Amino acid sequence: MHAEYGGVVPELASRDHIRRALPLTQHVLRAAGRTLQDIDGIAYTQGPGLAGALLVGTSIAESLAFTLDVPTVGVHHLEGHLLAPLLEENPPAFPFVALLVSGGHTQLMRVSGIGDYELLGDTLDDAAGEAFDKTAKLLGLGYPGGPAVSKLAALGKPGRFKLPRPLLNSDDLNFSFSGLKTAVLTLTNQHALTDETKADIAYEFQEAVTEVLTAKCMAALRETGMDNLIVSGGVGANARLRERLTQAAQRRLCKVSYPRLEFCTDNGAMIAFAGAMRMLHAQQDDYAFTVRPRWDLAELKAP
Ligand SMILES: Nc1ncnc2c1ncn2[C@@H]1O[C@H](COP(=O)(O)OP(=O)(O)OP(=O)(O)O)[C@@H](O)[C@H]1O
Ligand SMILES: [Mg+2]
Repeated sequence: MHAEYGGVVPELASRDHIRRALPLTQHVLRAAGRTLQDIDGIAYTQGPGLAGALLVGTSIAESLAFTLDVPTVGVHHLEGHLLAPLLEENPPAFPFVALLVSGGHTQLMRVSGIGDYELLGDTLDDAAGEAFDKTAKLLGLGYPGGPAVSKLAALGKPGRFKLPRPLLNSDDLNFSFSGLKTAVLTLTNQHALTDETKADIAYEFQEAVTEVLTAKCMAALRETGMDNLIVSGGVGANARLRERLTQAAQRRLCKVSYPRLEFCTDNGAMIAFAGAMRMLHAQQDDYAFTVRPRWDLAELKAP
């Protein structure tokens, strides 16, 4: 639905939420072999995000919970991403360093427990996923761009192009990806975009992004003295990033954990899990609700 516009159209998204949320709920219950009566609590995404889409999910969750007489908890979208690796077997124990690398965020966090998050580094401009999406657009690939760029990069040759590694040697844990996008734009203007050239640009772009992300993760482990890294968010599905992080972490005798691929991009399981963690600690709302389109993750408190 959004591919035609090259990005998410807010009003289309919220209308589509209205159409899909109840049939999806029924489908998921059926697939899980459960009924509404089996539900002991409802977690929903309260923010940050598009207000219209948030309001649809929130009002359905709160009214369903009211009729079922079960508690609700409003979850922070990024807390969902952050805790997604804990859905896997042998999850890492707190504390750990988290790289949250998605369509809207590129952050390094110190995670000491549920709700105990300290921001170590952030992007000064575009998120890594956004840079993938914009590069895809410049190369004439579809939306979302990350998987398309990464597929094309696998066909590219090393050495033909050289793109910058922004902030690679800065003394902090911050990122910047908008210059990289401009450098890709310059390349696309200078060369005829044959399939081969597009693949070579995609290759070098992916190398540049993953090199910077890997170096900053290792710097964060060094600075915090921790030996556990978790990676989450859509760009965490990138195979080259996983390969580089795994190699670099092995050299430092550190462990890296990832969610399975379908739990990297937005999914309901991660919100349910974060909500369950908070409900276990008896944090619940009454049925009144607000959404928080803008919501800083570092504001969260332990439940
Ligand atoms: N294999 C991949 N390689 C690189 N990027 C990828 C890959 N798969 C997905 N992405 C990128 O991940 C992003 C989507 O991730 P996600 O759903 O976590 O982001 P979002 O929900 O839009 O943003 P946020 O969670 O920050 O609000 C898109 O930018 C997409 O291009
Ligand atoms: Mg997301």
